[in-house]
Amino acid sequence: MAVKIAPSIAAADQGRLAAEASHLQEWGADWIHVDIMDGMFAPNLTFGPSAVKAIRKASKLPLDCHLMISNPELLLERFLQAGGDIMTIHAETVTVESLARIEKKVKEYNAKLGIAFKPATEMRSVDLAEREVSLITIMTVNPGFSGQKFMPEVLPKLEEARKQFPSRSQTEIEIDGGVDQTNAKVIANKGASVLVAGNSVFGQSDPELALKELKKLVAS
Ligand code: DX5
Ligand code: ZN
Repeated sequence: MAVKIAPSIAAADQGRLAAEASHLQEWGADWIHVDIMDGMFAPNLTFGPSAVKAIRKASKLPLDCHLMISNPELLLERFLQAGGDIMTIHAETVTVESLARIEKKVKEYNAKLGIAFKPATEMRSVDLAEREVSLITIMTVNPGFSGQKFMPEVLPKLEEARKQFPSRSQTEIEIDGGVDQTNAKVIANKGASVLVAGNSVFGQSDPELALKELKKLVAS
């Protein structure tokens, strides 16, 4: 299965959100990574449900919604109604009970459930045995901003996750934060099936070329 590239639209020109979203498909993006932050779980404020709705209108690509919000149940349904395809909530913000409720709600909308881990959070911090998880997002920067430095010390967690979720068709494993043209291949070789790319695409002088370079690096 080819490794997917999910450009992070939070790194795009916020004054041209729909335009930026609209050409990602032609450029070869597989998903659009939508970083949703509430200013509490993460020290930044980004998209609400109406922005997700606008991105949904501008692109047919799957919307990979990364919910960096302290109470995911509060807004989950609004983001599902806005058109999010994958709803990734943070292990640090759920209990066994709330995660079960979140999974049920996500299924009601035929969406997929993802679980994200901050760099310092252990995979075993949440019991996923009973859950049907389509995506594991391993953050390799701390939540908040695009353009941060990749944290290689987190990579063992990627190998651990791939061992825990060996089937790529059942569970994608995404690396999120500081991915660029210099580390994409190594990360893919260690078992990642989705790479988030914010600065390494939208921070470049030619984002289309930068994205195509990433696709080529992980294709072989
Ligand atoms: C950080 C976000 C990441 C980040 C990715 O809070 O979850 O998705 O914006 O951007 P880069 O690829 O520039 O690190
Ligand atoms: Zn993210």
